[in-house]
Amino acid sequence: MRHCIERKRDGHTLSATDWDGIIDGFMEGRIDEAQTAALFMACVWRGMSFEEAHALTDAMVRSGETVTFDRGKGIIVDKHSSGGVADIVSLVAVPLAAACGAHVAKLSGRALGHTGGTIDKLEAVPGFNAALSLDTFVRQVESIGCAIAAQTQALVPADKRIYNLRDRTGTVPAMGLIAASIVSKKIACGAHAIVYDVKTGPASFTPSPEQARELARWLVEISKGFGRKAIAFVSDMHQPLGRTVGTGIEMVEARDILRHSDVILSLSKDPERSRGVKLILKIVAALLDASEVTGGEELASKALADGTGYAKLVAMLEAQGASRGALEGMELDGKPLIVKASQGGYVHSIDVVHLGNVGRRLSQHDKLGGLFVIAQIGDRVEAGQPLARMYGTDKEHIRNLEASFKIGTGPVEPPPLIYDVVT
Ligand code: URA
Repeated sequence: MRHCIERKRDGHTLSATDWDGIIDGFMEGRIDEAQTAALFMACVWRGMSFEEAHALTDAMVRSGETVTFDRGKGIIVDKHSSGGVADIVSLVAVPLAAACGAHVAKLSGRALGHTGGTIDKLEAVPGFNAALSLDTFVRQVESIGCAIAAQTQALVPADKRIYNLRDRTGTVPAMGLIAASIVSKKIACGAHAIVYDVKTGPASFTPSPEQARELARWLVEISKGFGRKAIAFVSDMHQPLGRTVGTGIEMVEARDILRHSDVILSLSKDPERSRGVKLILKIVAALLDASEVTGGEELASKALADGTGYAKLVAMLEAQGASRGALEGMELDGKPLIVKASQGGYVHSIDVVHLGNVGRRLSQHDKLGGLFVIAQIGDRVEAGQPLARMYGTDKEHIRNLEASFKIGTGPVEPPPLIYDVVT
């Protein structure tokens, strides 16, 4: 190991055999944390080649079990987000793509820091079971076309330990290490094609579009190296993507987008303002394309409008222990606190990290607590106009939320929704 650390320190590349030995040795306790962290720090400073990241990914995949889907039964697709605030894409896109004929297999994580976790949002539906065995997961995808389950300990155990070590030793930010960590979990999950959504903005892991593009390229290249089809969107995270921030409240938003009822969200009255729905339709189109299902965004919009996407969400929840009644019984508190603009002008920026933290805190006290964000960057607002609504029992403790919305005098353009698509 010492030799590998020194070679990496001096800017050389390690072979696939080296990376195999490192991961095996680390998992079996022959290589200690200090040595592994020193090697990762050398990777942060010296960088890694695609070949090294591929070899590391491969070694990590082999540290645990893997899911196998029978290619003869059709193409299985997966969707991954690098993590954002109000990111309701998976909750809507997975059943919507399945309603259009795709087979979507998704293992998801929980909330991390200010970003939300898809599993926490689904678990807000009473009865929902995210802890599927890998067999049940595969059978559900084959039978109803989609499943979203929690990442199990059996898949890529090396990633869990390595991520924890990287987190403690300041060695998270190396593209090769990040890409190997993400792609290993996708490869182990068994999909034949993967659609990545890499967020960019202050609330994301890759704040600048250049960093996000670079990560997108690494994810696509490494996935292709494993014979998978891959595409990566670079999408915006300068403001919440959907309209709600929290846990269960985001599930309510996803339900209402699919149900097209818009009772709470008034989406259909102002579809142009729904950046979340626009991105969802693009991602569903990519999932369909990867699945060799024709129809793209038009088919996805149709499945959204005619309720088949919603029926598929209900089918997925029922297969995983919840019921239509439980989903439809999720009602927001009728007396939200209104966050108002203290001055007139244009919304110049939104503190997404703060909104993410507040949404999470509200939802920790109350399953359906959280925020409904009304104002978006570029909007003209008058003093006293509502910027957001706050739901939950803890809301009285959260003050000065209006300071998260920076209001200036001149008009500003909203940030682009999609910066790039990497294929
Ligand atoms: N997400 C992951 O799964 N791994 C990383 O290293 C960074 C983000």
